[in-house]
Amino acid sequence: MRYLDFLGEAHERLAPPTYLEIGVRHGGSLSLSRSRSVGIDPAYKLKYDLPLDVALFRETSDAYFEREDPLEALDGTPIGFSFIDGLHLAEFALRDFVNVERHSAWTTAVVFDDILPRTVDEAARDRITDAWTGDVYKVLDVLEKHRPDLICLRVGTEPTGLGLILGLDPDSTVLSDAYAQLERDIVTPDPQDVPEAVFAHDGVLDPQAVLDAPFWALLRELRDNGTSRRDGLPRLRRSLGELTAPAAA
Ligand SMILES: C[S@@+](CC[C@H](N)C(=O)[O-])C[C@H]1O[C@@H](n2cnc3c(N)ncnc32)[C@H](O)[C@@H]1O
Repeated sequence: MRYLDFLGEAHERLAPPTYLEIGVRHGGSLSLSRSRSVGIDPAYKLKYDLPLDVALFRETSDAYFEREDPLEALDGTPIGFSFIDGLHLAEFALRDFVNVERHSAWTTAVVFDDILPRTVDEAARDRITDAWTGDVYKVLDVLEKHRPDLICLRVGTEPTGLGLILGLDPDSTVLSDAYAQLERDIVTPDPQDVPEAVFAHDGVLDPQAVLDAPFWALLRELRDNGTSRRDGLPRLRRSLGELTAPAAA
């Protein structure tokens, strides 16, 4: 399944009140939104028709989140769904996540593009290939290590996978407090030492199985009922059930 097909289905299933996208380029992914949306990209060049309710910002994501009120264009409604597909360097994608999470509802889903590079060259920080993932794959490892409270899923979409993060905590300062050290850890010179598990797609889930899982409907229910994270997160984890259970030997 192509990543845009997965994203379109995710919009349908989550029916989020708001959507924020980092990295718009031609508008392909942004055109899938049916919600009030924000698109951020310093160099977008639209080739797709966008829904009417989209505010575009021709600036970097860092500049956007330095605004006094990054939710102004969404009338103060927290982000309900987000796609992080801006600059494909691990520290930028990590900062994007920190900023998105801070302005999200806990029931928000955050998707990272390009977490499954196919070659070491494709994962280089200094771009040397046409199709380029950079070293965004490192962010999932950072989240799993430092934020075990989050749910991190790897989805095997074409061409280079998606990361799907659930169970956000907008009040968490774990990543922002540790950011300087995390940046030192993840910014390493090329060639990148991509773990074999990334190339082998260890733990990568089938996209259709992820779309068919019951957690989308549960997220909507928890959001619409105003269920707290404390009460809702255990239910969300349970709803992942078989999707994330290790295969029987
Ligand atoms: C891969 S393209 C996005 C593709 C789009 N999401 C889609 O799937 O149709 C990446 C985009 O990120 C933008 N970009 C680069 N640096 C950025 C930054 N710091 N903040 C936001 N966007 C950035 C680039 O201008 C480029 O258009």
